[in-house]
Amino acid sequence: MGNDAKHGLARGLTNYGDPAFSLYLRRSFAKSMGYSSEMLARPVVGIADSRSGFNNCHRHFPELIEAVKRGVIAAGGLPVDFPTTSLGEVFLSPTSMMFRNLMSIDVEEMVRAQPMDAVVLVGGCDKTVPAQLMGAASADVPAVQLLAGPMMPTSYRGERLGACTDCRRFWAMHRAGTVNAAQIEAVEGNLATTAGTCAVMGTASTMAALAEALGMALPGSAAIPAVHADRLRAGEASGRRAVELVARPIRPSQIITQKSVENAIRVLLAIGGSTNAIVHLTAIAGRVGVKIDLHRLNEVSDSTPVLVDLKPTGQFYMSDLYAAGGVGAVLRELKPLLHLDCMTVTGETLGERLKHEEGAWVDRAVVRQLSEPLAKEGGLVALFGSLAPNGAILKRSAADTNLFEREARAVVFSSLDDLAARVDDPALDIKAEDFMVLQNAGPKSGYAMPEAGYLPIPQKLARAGLKDMVRISDARMSGTAYGTIVLHVSPEAAAGGPLALVRNGDRIKLSVKDRRIDLLVPEKELSERKKSWQPPVATPARGYAKLYMDHVLQAEQGCDFDFLRKA
Ligand code: FES
Repeated sequence: MGNDAKHGLARGLTNYGDPAFSLYLRRSFAKSMGYSSEMLARPVVGIADSRSGFNNCHRHFPELIEAVKRGVIAAGGLPVDFPTTSLGEVFLSPTSMMFRNLMSIDVEEMVRAQPMDAVVLVGGCDKTVPAQLMGAASADVPAVQLLAGPMMPTSYRGERLGACTDCRRFWAMHRAGTVNAAQIEAVEGNLATTAGTCAVMGTASTMAALAEALGMALPGSAAIPAVHADRLRAGEASGRRAVELVARPIRPSQIITQKSVENAIRVLLAIGGSTNAIVHLTAIAGRVGVKIDLHRLNEVSDSTPVLVDLKPTGQFYMSDLYAAGGVGAVLRELKPLLHLDCMTVTGETLGERLKHEEGAWVDRAVVRQLSEPLAKEGGLVALFGSLAPNGAILKRSAADTNLFEREARAVVFSSLDDLAARVDDPALDIKAEDFMVLQNAGPKSGYAMPEAGYLPIPQKLARAGLKDMVRISDARMSGTAYGTIVLHVSPEAAAGGPLALVRNGDRIKLSVKDRRIDLLVPEKELSERKKSWQPPVATPARGYAKLYMDHVLQAEQGCDFDFLRKA
């Protein structure tokens, strides 16, 4: 591959009005980094590096990126790494979700603006993989997604701990008074002990599995632990594959299609994946003009069994899934339900991939057979009704089925600040059978749809032994959390949706069987209440916060910006 107008360093020249001068100048400056003319004539593989000192999950990226470079050079390319925004889940305020679209813009523009023939996207922590796939889909340059890989669980006093289902479990015990301050401090030091993403089937693990199911990550690569040598080999192979994609390009828009997105939804359901993944997958699909219909989600959910026994809904960790056969084992079980003609980044269809893997060993304790699933139906369902005209999401696999068909009194919190101020007040008028309702925690709330849908059980009920109650909000929930929690209510309260009009004492009816959630207040009364409704926050005057508030869409459109989705 030479330095013609289409390839390598000659792509997208800086414009000085003289292309030959531009190329000469670029080569000259590249040579200042010590490259030979021979290396500079090679196809260029960009490596999007989302490492940061504020991102513990990506702390092994220097070594991983070395492996990618090794693969690129071995295959005849020139690897060039470049930094992008990094989103360390717990280090961002108000929430990483607010910055996912910012990172996606960064990835899209840097992939497009810099001279690369293909790109390896290196990410892992919750929002980074969605942002990278969104950006790559929009730039539509051949791309391989390389995942960070999950953390290893840690043995601690006779039990395994892993972020972050166990984080929540111990914190709930601490709140309930059964784990003291010294004990919780000791646990704190043992929840997250290696590089990599959260060790359970949280959002990061779910998105890793979906990247492989979509065909954007190499087969078998999603579940490899971050610290396993196979992770480095996957890095090397991803680099190699990116060079091969230069000669025979397969673009993200050829891989991310209506059919592959549906395959990804099947996998999401079969692995008992995170509710966040529906929002992210919707956003990724939206970048290539593919829509996810929540009614279709329900149909797919009803016909997709849960096969994987991982926390937060089951018992194992991601490293166990890798040892059990990985995402390939899940895909092989789901084969009769999948679109096998989908192209993948390897140049093979999904069906061709699965044919090579026939008969591979599977640990049935972790990945069940299709005929003997953990649950006959998928983990997620969409609910509709007068409280959520555009939909809401319930992770039924993480919920208490005894709470699925009931009508109850609403106990309303008007914001996260209101929740924090009152939830543990001994005088709070709340009973176990009430529905907790949180308003103004959606995309436009000023909190940017945080993972706050897992409302804490009021302390007086927790201390009395209550483990779960129905909680309803327009917020999201961490993929590592669990409970009977209705999320992503749309339209959100801050956009004037019916959720904004709920008052203490109103009756709400939940029916998971009928896929409904209804506010049992007469229409006339709601119209009256609407007259006095005001948005909870003003649009910020400047900067990214203004861009975000002006353009963010609702959950059923992936919370992408309106101008970034493909028409
Ligand atoms: Fe990075 Fe959980 S904090 S994946």
